[in-house]
Amino acid sequence: MSAPIDSFWPWPREDTTHVPYRVFTDAGLFQREQERVFQGPTWSYVGLEAEVPGEGSFRTTHIGEVPVILSRGGDGRVHVLVNRCAHRGALVLREAYGQRKRFNCIYHQWGYDPDGRLRAVPFKQGVEGHGGYRDVPLDMQALSLRRLRVEVLNGLVFATFRDDTPPLREYLGGVWPQFTRVFDGRKLEVLGYLRQRVKANWKLYFENVKDPYHAGLLHLFVATFGLFRSTQRGETLAEPSGCGHLVSYQGGTQEHPEQYEQQGLSTYRKGYRLRAPELMRKLPDLADDVAVSIQTVFPSLVIHRISNSIATRQVLPRGVDEFDLVWTLLGYADDPVELRNQRILQANLVGPSGFISLEDVEALEIVQRGIQGERGDAAFVGLGGTRVLYGEPEPDLANETALRGFWKTWRTLMDV
Ligand code: FES
Ligand SMILES: [Fe+2]
Repeated sequence: MSAPIDSFWPWPREDTTHVPYRVFTDAGLFQREQERVFQGPTWSYVGLEAEVPGEGSFRTTHIGEVPVILSRGGDGRVHVLVNRCAHRGALVLREAYGQRKRFNCIYHQWGYDPDGRLRAVPFKQGVEGHGGYRDVPLDMQALSLRRLRVEVLNGLVFATFRDDTPPLREYLGGVWPQFTRVFDGRKLEVLGYLRQRVKANWKLYFENVKDPYHAGLLHLFVATFGLFRSTQRGETLAEPSGCGHLVSYQGGTQEHPEQYEQQGLSTYRKGYRLRAPELMRKLPDLADDVAVSIQTVFPSLVIHRISNSIATRQVLPRGVDEFDLVWTLLGYADDPVELRNQRILQANLVGPSGFISLEDVEALEIVQRGIQGERGDAAFVGLGGTRVLYGEPEPDLANETALRGFWKTWRTLMDV
């Protein structure tokens, strides 16, 4: 029998195994997220220190819907500024990245220092004794670009709108050891960017990257060539801080492909061979046997290690049913040439037109299409039980524990 309309809304507090579909389609909830999640007590990833190497260099991006600038000031420090002119609200910078001594708004040419301080206001004293700001005192300090609280952690820059967001290290909690394994303080090198527009709600992506169940079932390539199978050794972890910093990872050394054959799964093709097997070659890299590691820092960052490929993926919501993914492919400045080349080669494996993300995005978009018009029903996330294990890793890859942790955090922030 079908469920009655609105049976999962309001969302029962004790129910950890259902996610009402309306969280992916409701414009009112999307607006609430802007305030309570993106401008709430959370840290959003905005870019890399390496992307703003010199004074006046900048990169533009967003935190939720709010346009922001990552810049390097004259004091050598990294700043995150709201990209909104203090005069009448225009975007001050419109390019994706660049370098300038002064950030000038084109509308009326107010000029700001790269640290956000307002420096120049044309016709401030009016013209020939008339007009200008002679009668209305202009508080240049107060009219600076809004500067957000910033923390830089081993080369990654995070920002928050709030003073009461816990320090970043505390916010990362149990993710810290994995985080510092990848970002160990060595100088990073940006190898390239990929951008991808996805017609789905941004939270479907956070579910996707915490979902080991789909990885060996949706992705023919990774299952067939042994990069990831549900039968491999691995674990998923939901971090206990309650801010939703979650990680899932697994070693790729133990394989049981015969179980795939027994299950009759269409994504395991025994006879398939690669014409370019070097794509799957893994060169000695970080000191562990982790084949695939996907870490997430709620609400805007995914960090991947897939074979030799390392990247940050920034999640930028554009509306209730659309988001952009910005991939920054990375290496270390001291990488040997061969390793650097392998990382670049494997961009073809992981990116939007590669063998993995192509399928993820298709899956997310067909979910978004499938739930259109649905008001009362819910997704089922009961794989592996009802537990929301914060801080204790699940020793297998056939569970949705990390999804339940994600939703618990989201619900707490959203108060729904
Ligand atoms: S809106 Fe920027 S100078 Fe007027
Ligand atoms: Fe996937």
